[in-house]
Amino acid sequence: MDINGRAHANVIKEKLREEILNNSYTPTLAFFLMEDHEPSSLYVGMKERACKETGITSIKESLPATITENELLAKIDRANKDSKIDAIIVQMPLPAHIDPNKIILAIDPSKDVDGFHPINIGKAIIGEKDALLPCTPHGVCKLLEMEHVETTGKNVVIIGRSNIVGRPLLNMLSGKGKDATVTLLHSKSKDIETHLKNADIIIAALGIPHFVKASMIKQGAVVIDVGICHLDGKLVGDVDYKQCKDKASKITPVPGGVGPMTIAMLLVNTLQCHKNRLKASLSL
Ligand code: GUN
Repeated sequence: MDINGRAHANVIKEKLREEILNNSYTPTLAFFLMEDHEPSSLYVGMKERACKETGITSIKESLPATITENELLAKIDRANKDSKIDAIIVQMPLPAHIDPNKIILAIDPSKDVDGFHPINIGKAIIGEKDALLPCTPHGVCKLLEMEHVETTGKNVVIIGRSNIVGRPLLNMLSGKGKDATVTLLHSKSKDIETHLKNADIIIAALGIPHFVKASMIKQGAVVIDVGICHLDGKLVGDVDYKQCKDKASKITPVPGGVGPMTIAMLLVNTLQCHKNRLKASLSL
């Protein structure tokens, strides 16, 4: 059965819209975007549309690829200090002459709506409630919850060890409340098929189109596809959906699965940033 990420994301967005309207909240999200990077423009466009639908103000600054690291750091510093801005996104990837880690470290952790800053990663690991969680893993966990997929004691296999998907998911799903037994596979892992065959829940986030085949999964597995790849001019995931859809008990399509949930969680995080800042200003 397909997991309809779009429908779940719409439920979350509607709840946010009502909360923002009923409380006269004024959340504001600032985007920094490399102007000549087409996929980034596309993603930011979708994020801006979702902000508008929900009642979140978005501010976008397009930057030339020639911008220096120091110039970008100065812009981030200004946004950090701007009391009207609750949340900041520097859309990746950045040009090769800019160190993405330096940029992530420069964002005020309280405005780090991507949840990429080590302070937020660390808070998530020690289970601090006010941690801003990275949007894709947060969206995957929410999707499993909304689909009533039990994770306690289940074998979860994640393929891909990125800092923004695989590693945070390992932390979230193995933590208290989710209580799964999690295996994290990567490009040097051995016996990938044996691990996958043993998985109750598979999360594919490695960026190789149609990597997961029906022969690799067990009957009734839940399959979550985080991949966004291009194959023969089509948008596809890391899972061979056509092959796996009848063997999986639940499966996310690409597009329309995890993607809309990532955007919904970005909106959730933006409102969280706004409410945290309101609370902080009230207690001054
Ligand atoms: N580029 C692709 N996905 C993302 C994301 O979630 N956040 C940022 N900042 N850049 C991205």
